[in-house]
Amino acid sequence: MLNKKTIQSFRETHLAPSLSLSYNDPLHIVKGEGQFLYDGDGNQYLDAVNNIQHVGHCHPKVVAAATTQYQKLNTNTRYLDETRVNYAQALTDKLPDGLDVCFFTNSGSEANDLALRIARHITQSKETIVLDAAYHGNLSSLIEISPYKHDGKGGSGAPDFVHVIPRPDPYRGKYRGEDSGKSYAHEVQMAMDKIQESGKRVSVFIAESLMGCGGQLVLPNGFLKESFQKVREAGGLCIADEVQIGFGRMGDHFWGFETQGVIPDIVTMGKSMGNGHPLSAVVTTRSIADTFNNGMEYFNSFGGNPVSCAVGHAVLKVIEEEELQQNAKEVGDYLKSMLNELKEKHSIIGDVRGHGLFLGEELVRDLDSLEPAGNEAEQIVNSMKEKGILISTDGPDHNVLKIKPPMIFTRENALFLTETLNEILS
Ligand SMILES: Cc1ncc(COP(=O)(O)O)c(C=O)c1O
Repeated sequence: MLNKKTIQSFRETHLAPSLSLSYNDPLHIVKGEGQFLYDGDGNQYLDAVNNIQHVGHCHPKVVAAATTQYQKLNTNTRYLDETRVNYAQALTDKLPDGLDVCFFTNSGSEANDLALRIARHITQSKETIVLDAAYHGNLSSLIEISPYKHDGKGGSGAPDFVHVIPRPDPYRGKYRGEDSGKSYAHEVQMAMDKIQESGKRVSVFIAESLMGCGGQLVLPNGFLKESFQKVREAGGLCIADEVQIGFGRMGDHFWGFETQGVIPDIVTMGKSMGNGHPLSAVVTTRSIADTFNNGMEYFNSFGGNPVSCAVGHAVLKVIEEEELQQNAKEVGDYLKSMLNELKEKHSIIGDVRGHGLFLGEELVRDLDSLEPAGNEAEQIVNSMKEKGILISTDGPDHNVLKIKPPMIFTRENALFLTETLNEILS
């Protein structure tokens, strides 16, 4: 086995320098099991941040589904195949009626790119409304609509067809409080008015229903409901990006958009869908899919291949069999209440937020000025790692501790996390 130093040196020689590593002293992980990762020296780490390994690292049923199907057949989508249709049926059963046509893709980025292409075709417009600090993927089309990237280091700003509305942040945003949804929805209206004044019309409004890279942000009440209504009145479509938050993680709900009481026109999903296997999807209505079917074939070499579909179906079954949505609710509520207890003790914690096992803790230097404690957040994440717990930071000021563990996280894990965090903060 190569040692850590050699891997790092090979990495510097052979891998693109724009790839990043986590932690000041990067980890050399050699094994994953359940909610734990193990380094080359045999040290165990509690993984409290990997929402991709949704049902746990190397879940035996998911691994078995992949290997069994691999031994039998893996081809593209141009043949009849029961793996694909069975999975599409099981997946759409989890969505509201009407959202029942699937396009399978290989990454969240690919799903969002296709969703944009569909929306642009249907509306014959490119004018796109996005939330500030949003991230929707690494393709060129998505850097364009991701302020997290195009307004960050190395970015060159939004193109003129992208309209960015203020981050709907009830804690430190332009409008504050859980009932600020109406005010942010008015910003969506203002963006559409601007589009109309320039003689164009809105194509699409795309949003995560809880923002991930935007700082584990719970959107204010009514924001999506009101925004969707306005966008649809103007002839636009609404995309819900569920790449980070879907598949039961919310606890109360299977999908993030359900927390806001809306039904999107198009849903995109990925990450947890394949538990680490590259699998993603766009799901939409029959009428939208039929209108998009304009003669140009949609072909994807890998999207929806039998192995991917077997894996995705196994993930859905494990979520059901192990009652993981229920677990996200119970353990998530418990963890959130413990984080709130820490907030009472440590003034650096300004806000605790989230749903189920998608939680965030915003750190501030001063509870009145809300000066972001970004450096402190980074130090904490590194100290947590030294004590065997993996979390990360995010948000525009990098001051939000991100907690989004595999859905098999236990109360015991939650207690270990909060006791360790308490120790570090003390
Ligand atoms: C909300 C959201 N959408 C899309 C993506 C892109 O997904 P992928 O990295 O699978 O291309 C990400 C990735 O972090 C994401 O967080």
